[in-house]
Amino acid sequence: MKARWLRSNTGALAATIERMAAGDSFYIATPIFYVNDVPHIGHAYTEVAADVLARWHRQRGEDTWLLTGTDEHGQKILRTAVANDTSPQAWADKLVENSWKPLLETIDIRNDDFIRTTEERHETAVATFLQKLYDDGHIYSGEYEGYYCVGCEEYKQLDDLITTEDGDYSGQLVCAVHGRPVELLKEKNYFFRMSAFEKPLLDLYESNPNFVQPPSVRNEIIQFVKQGLADLSISRSSFDWGVKVPWDHSHVVYVWFDALLNYISAIGYGVDDEQFERRWPAVQLVGKDIARFHAVIWPAMLMAAGLEVPRAVFGHGWLLVGGEKMSKSKLTGIAPNQITDTFGSDAFRYYFLSAITFGQDGSFSWEDLSARYQAELANGFGNLASRVTAMVTRYFDGEIPAAGALTHADELIYTTAKRVTEEAGIAIDAFAIHDALATIWQLVDALNGYITDQEPWALAKDDANRERLETVLATAVHGLGTLAVLLSPVLPKATERLWKAIGGLGPIEAQRIDLAWEWIGGPRVSPLDTSLFPRIEVEETV
Ligand code: ME8
Ligand code: MG
Repeated sequence: MKARWLRSNTGALAATIERMAAGDSFYIATPIFYVNDVPHIGHAYTEVAADVLARWHRQRGEDTWLLTGTDEHGQKILRTAVANDTSPQAWADKLVENSWKPLLETIDIRNDDFIRTTEERHETAVATFLQKLYDDGHIYSGEYEGYYCVGCEEYKQLDDLITTEDGDYSGQLVCAVHGRPVELLKEKNYFFRMSAFEKPLLDLYESNPNFVQPPSVRNEIIQFVKQGLADLSISRSSFDWGVKVPWDHSHVVYVWFDALLNYISAIGYGVDDEQFERRWPAVQLVGKDIARFHAVIWPAMLMAAGLEVPRAVFGHGWLLVGGEKMSKSKLTGIAPNQITDTFGSDAFRYYFLSAITFGQDGSFSWEDLSARYQAELANGFGNLASRVTAMVTRYFDGEIPAAGALTHADELIYTTAKRVTEEAGIAIDAFAIHDALATIWQLVDALNGYITDQEPWALAKDDANRERLETVLATAVHGLGTLAVLLSPVLPKATERLWKAIGGLGPIEAQRIDLAWEWIGGPRVSPLDTSLFPRIEVEETV
């Protein structure tokens, strides 16, 4: 068995060295969120998914960078600030410090940077980018006349609007997303010649089928572009909360044009070529509500500037409440700490990523969360960790035994550990985070079944079975080590405790995830003083 590990180990090591030599870099970004209000679990969902992918790639030894941040310009923020008797900058500062940055702590996000669109580094990059497009003839001045939804911060076509029959806005044209009246704009604006990129964009979707994912979003984007692309108005002159257009200070840059540039302003666009080359292009994780901005406008902007398009744009599904998209504007938002205060951040992370197929919509319910917490985390994984570490303590005084001759049942644990390590990695590369978790859970279930079948407590009763007992517990600890490493991106807190309990060396997040199955074991276990996922008495929440 050992010799076989060593051989594959050498293969995996060679792959790693190759990857590091090739300078494999993995840059992933979340959208930057509007600071008109506090975060809800929809925003936290995007953050957690991006964080899990980033942690996974980091643990493969890739040069990883996770960016998140806040979108602070535009009419929506300006009006919110005015309604709250303050300046937009003061409002944004307050929301960022009191709500958006603390969210990252609440759900245990390990981001490498946090960008705010009001930072100088960002505003400078926006001006540089815009000036380049202007100098290269991609921008012209014209007259805009049409509808605008401040909720979406988007120019609307008639197709996007509905006439409501009921409620406060009866008889008016409202935005189909926000259900609020749109505003008629008539302004002199600067336009980006986006129509010129219709064909290049369609070629991009065609030649790189993974550029927009999942397929449902890709199809929608292709249909949209095939209907024809109009030029895009990229400035506003009726208010001034934004980045000034560099050649005409009476205009500010359209908030989306400004916001999308965060993905490159944060990595040194225009000022730090080395960092920019090292990181760009990014994987962009967004909700499907803003897939069009990221898969149409953004690559067109990049093409115009002669820059590479993103590696991929993945539009995930919506968290639904009562069948509708959870949203700030409809007051259906659930604050992330309503969940983490009771269940903890690990359970939050695990629940949303395992219960919802990544890329599809999913309904949140407290019942489902409680049931999965109990069955999968407490009884499935947590109990396994407690039992195995307790038995090694009891029967071997904490010293992890060595495995002797392996039976078929033991072999199956080792081969399952290897198989799930490989399959989970493949699922992660396909953005199938739920599949990666389901695959890893095969090892949780296999180990629980193994313990039940092998009955180490029965073996312990007779000294004649000592060697068998050693093999069973060595195999079980080995499986736990694999699980600790594989689950560390999703359950960073619990796996760190488990890692220490089984004598893992070095920090858990430094363990190579693609080699998780090779873990052989620390010298000793120390039992867990409390279970990884304690029983929770749920009162009737909400
Ligand atoms: O659109 N389910 O910001 P935003 C899942 N500032 N995800 C959800 C969600 C839900 N119910 N609700 C929100 C903006 N999200 C712009 C982005 S990027 C250059 C600028 C998540 O505050 C999801 O990621 O409205 C969605 O795309 C994003 O929050 C929208 O956040
Ligand atoms: Mg929104």
